[in-house]
Amino acid sequence: MTQSPEQDRVLIFDTTLRDGEQSPGATMSHDEKLEIAQLLDEMGVDIIEAGFPIASIGDFEAVRDIAKVVQNATVCGLARANATDIDRAWEAVREARSPRIHTFIGTSPTHRGITELDMDAMIECIHETVTHARNLCDNVQWSPMDATRTERDFLFRTVETAIKAGANTINIADTVGYTSPRESAELIRALRGHVPGADEIVFATHCHNDLGMATANALAAVEAGARQIECTINGLGERAGNTALEEVVMAIRTRNDIMPYRTGIDTRRIMQASRLVATVSGFPVQYNKAVVGKNAFAHESGIHQDGMLKNAETFEIMRPEDIGLNATNLVMGKHSGRAALNAKLRELGYELGANQLKDVFVRFKELADRKKEVYDDDLIALMTDSTTNTAHDYIKVGYLRVVCGTESPQSAELALIIDGEERRTEATGDGPVDATFNAVKALYPHDVRLQLYQVHAVTEGTDAQATVSVRLEDQGKIFTGQSADTDTVVASAKAYVNALNKLLSNRDRARAGAALQSAS
Ligand code: KIV
Ligand code: ZN
Repeated sequence: MTQSPEQDRVLIFDTTLRDGEQSPGATMSHDEKLEIAQLLDEMGVDIIEAGFPIASIGDFEAVRDIAKVVQNATVCGLARANATDIDRAWEAVREARSPRIHTFIGTSPTHRGITELDMDAMIECIHETVTHARNLCDNVQWSPMDATRTERDFLFRTVETAIKAGANTINIADTVGYTSPRESAELIRALRGHVPGADEIVFATHCHNDLGMATANALAAVEAGARQIECTINGLGERAGNTALEEVVMAIRTRNDIMPYRTGIDTRRIMQASRLVATVSGFPVQYNKAVVGKNAFAHESGIHQDGMLKNAETFEIMRPEDIGLNATNLVMGKHSGRAALNAKLRELGYELGANQLKDVFVRFKELADRKKEVYDDDLIALMTDSTTNTAHDYIKVGYLRVVCGTESPQSAELALIIDGEERRTEATGDGPVDATFNAVKALYPHDVRLQLYQVHAVTEGTDAQATVSVRLEDQGKIFTGQSADTDTVVASAKAYVNALNKLLSNRDRARAGAALQSAS
């Protein structure tokens, strides 16, 4: 099946769940991946790269389950250049309404050195693996990894081979973020001009942001004829990340006069996607991040505020509502009812079912009792907390009381509900947070490394909620937990337990995978 979009239609290929999740510490749970995939599908992403099925049983199951639930988008699984990987990717995506296999090999001299394939052997390998993928699936994408550092003539040969073997999409990967906008455009033009069969396929652009040029490089490639952009929400991804979905989509929309292209994205869902990905990955969005940063629409200086009041176009090239950011910051309080809360959450981009609303309303009332004014940011933090800390968690924080002050040691009395059973202990430590974490370790002994502990105030004032992120490392794998509370130590305990729950569920899946493999 050859995809030939209309001249001006640019396909959006989201790889948050694959390249994004590869960022150390961004590990997402199975259910979180499903939630993100459903949102990407609803917001109009054309292709969702759901994971790397051969990587682990968890990856395989996530891709398979995403393939089953996605309604509109093509669901894609990644595979290296060998039959075992490709078969596994196909097994994972085959039940999708529209499945795709994405196979790749490093074509640059450095990568050829690693695979120990000379040029002819690599051409043969590309022919065999793309043919194999095409025999399984009508929709095959092939990527020359590190394409931008590959010798031109050889790159042309590889792309020609992949097209002849049946690839429908050729993805030009700037794997280490090395290219520049001019070079990125020139490369796509050269490929389109020199490679036989190039007009039969879609060229994609896959840029990394090591030099801060991923968005510019992707848009330059589109101007030269690429019609698929590979990107992630919030630009999540290895090292400095990938091209950010929200940036390319809003650039095309805002500067349509000079970039006359179309995407299928409902831009009003952008903020919701950004918040969800920030929550589940544990990677907060930097304040001055383009489009989705907290300050992207904030006007601090007097001149700017004055101009904005007279005419919003003075300093705004996009409207906040275009990305799903409500213009108001109406304060809620303890007298606000459930309907008002629901309306407010909808405005913030959250659609809640009746049961979830009931649960969130209880938490909202508790918060409003402790905090006179509940702002939008408080509600976002509360939603983050109810996504990450749920009633089904294996370990839950039941009770916490700390003693702290100038006299040491500080101590914590903690109760955890572990698999439905309450356990209680007291521990001391170097400060209340250390004492609390020691109490968690005493109640549920485990051997992991605390890699990061971070606290942010959600709003101003001494009654502000704190969002806490905790990153735990277990044998090279990283798990991030988050929580929000007006009490920083309570938020810390919950964030630690959240990371621990993720780690335990990952161990369970790994164990189940090993058992499955030894049984087969
Ligand atoms: O950056 C890269 O080269 C990749 C490939 C798998 C396409 O992510
Ligand atoms: Zn990549």
